Amino acid sequence: LSKVLDLPPENLIKSISAVPVSKKRCVADFQLSVASLTEDSSSNCLAQDLNLQAQKLAERLKCDGVVSEISAGPGTVNFTINRELLAKAVLQQVLKDGSEYGVKSELFSAVPRQKAVIEFSSPNIAKKFHVGHLRSTIIGNFIANLKKALGHEVVRINYLGDWGMQFGLLGVGFQSFGDKEKLKSSPLQHLFEVYVQINKAAEDENTKKMAKDFFRKLEEHDEQTLSLWKQFRDFSIEEYVRIYKRLGVHFDEYSGESFYQEKSQEVLKILEDKGLLQKTTKGTGIVDLSEKKDFSSFSTVMRSDGTSLYITRDLAAAIDRMNKHSCDTMIYVTDKSQSTHFQHLFQILKLMGYNWAERCQHVSFGLVQGMKTRRGEVIFLEDVLNEVRSRVLQNMASAKTTKEMEDPMETAEKVGLAALIIQDFRGLLSSDYQFSWDRALQSRGDTGMFLQYTHARLHSLEQMHGNELLPDVNVACLQEPDAISVLQHLLRYDEVLYRSSQDLQPKHIVSYLLTLSHLAAVAHKSLPVKGSAPELAQARLRLFQAARSVLASGMRLLGITPVTRM
Ligand code: ARG
Repeated sequence: LSKVLDLPPENLIKSISAVPVSKKRCVADFQLSVASLTEDSSSNCLAQDLNLQAQKLAERLKCDGVVSEISAGPGTVNFTINRELLAKAVLQQVLKDGSEYGVKSELFSAVPRQKAVIEFSSPNIAKKFHVGHLRSTIIGNFIANLKKALGHEVVRINYLGDWGMQFGLLGVGFQSFGDKEKLKSSPLQHLFEVYVQINKAAEDENTKKMAKDFFRKLEEHDEQTLSLWKQFRDFSIEEYVRIYKRLGVHFDEYSGESFYQEKSQEVLKILEDKGLLQKTTKGTGIVDLSEKKDFSSFSTVMRSDGTSLYITRDLAAAIDRMNKHSCDTMIYVTDKSQSTHFQHLFQILKLMGYNWAERCQHVSFGLVQGMKTRRGEVIFLEDVLNEVRSRVLQNMASAKTTKEMEDPMETAEKVGLAALIIQDFRGLLSSDYQFSWDRALQSRGDTGMFLQYTHARLHSLEQMHGNELLPDVNVACLQEPDAISVLQHLLRYDEVLYRSSQDLQPKHIVSYLLTLSHLAAVAHKSLPVKGSAPELAQARLRLFQAARSVLASGMRLLGITPVTRM
């Protein structure tokens, strides 16, 4: 191609892709898109022209030892690789690269390695850990995993809602209804209860005043007040850490709004010095964000008493993060109701002269409707985890195929998590979706259960025949259509990773892994290992081993721990 088109081979990489496996079973392995060769492709080239160009190009190319067939398709030139070579090359690469298969692809060679700060989860102490926080947690974890796997440096930050008037109320509430023992043993539950109780009393003027006083003392760093607040925070973090561990999630830093009270005063000062801070008649401070400077768009950054707001603390936090980490990108993961907040945040940073604001990104996601546990509406993350685990345990107990296992609880936990993650990651992140336990837990649909089940089956196949594996296996005999489909699908893994790395959407990887599982299940049925001639059995084992390896690494990127028995 390079010779015929007179283009350096590296320019062709982005135009050639592996052909997605379809039911119709196209035999070609790779395709060159003619449109992507010409610079101003899409607009002024008619489909007919592209077809003609493809035809002509196909005629000028000759088959050789590597390419056994060349044909023209609609706007594409299709290549079929020598069948023996296909099996050998794919399996050798997958088994050699192991968990790095796909990320070592030349597709990523031109991508500069960067440092990314990723902020996610960020619950509010004493308030509900709602489904939005769960989504933020698993999405942020996925983005961090993916970036890390692709060789980027990643800093994972949890920015807690650990400051604000609610702590005034909470402090007063704790003084009347609090229990130190309960605070230690189940801080999240206890603080929430106290908060709900005191909120009811907050109608009363006296409570309001006390709460205000408590918060004022907190802001003035009164020792006793601060020490109580610190206990709320420390015990809560301890419990968060334990729950995140169940999710397989960790953070490099627990930050929070409380860190930035003083620094937000410095931010206000800078805004003032730069002439960006305007006082309203009510005494609040605002920043004009409109183009015409007519206040048609603005952001309030200061209360009338001079104290900071959510966005002021975010300004301070962003500047601090950049100073501390000198990162190339900063990513924030929250639901889409905060889109305007982050737009304003980035705009103000830009006005302040921080050009790196352009490298900040808000990854937003839609709402989840109807996530309820048997106990009712979800308040604590842990309830969701317990519920899904017990539902999976129940399913496993009633399924005839369930294997005996050492720790059914642990398996159920991993399988349940897979079910939650896949249900959440199947669509576009920005879409809302209706949560359904039944849909998430179907053993045969496009679910996390199915991925786990496939992984466990492939794993036990390897276990069963593992000691028969020879070091040197001739895989060229893998010529059945079902085997070829698996090989062709394995070829595409790097492209799928690339897509997800570009738009940070996990759905490309999810649908890839679901297809991989379906293809592997079909092949598992039609290509038995047991009872086949030794050479064939060995080659098939290699094929299934490769499929399992890619399945496992893809699942891990999504935040799922593959199980080996279920
Ligand atoms: N604690 C906030 C909430 O629950 C989310 C924080 C998002 N991050 C940020 N830097 N503002 O709504």
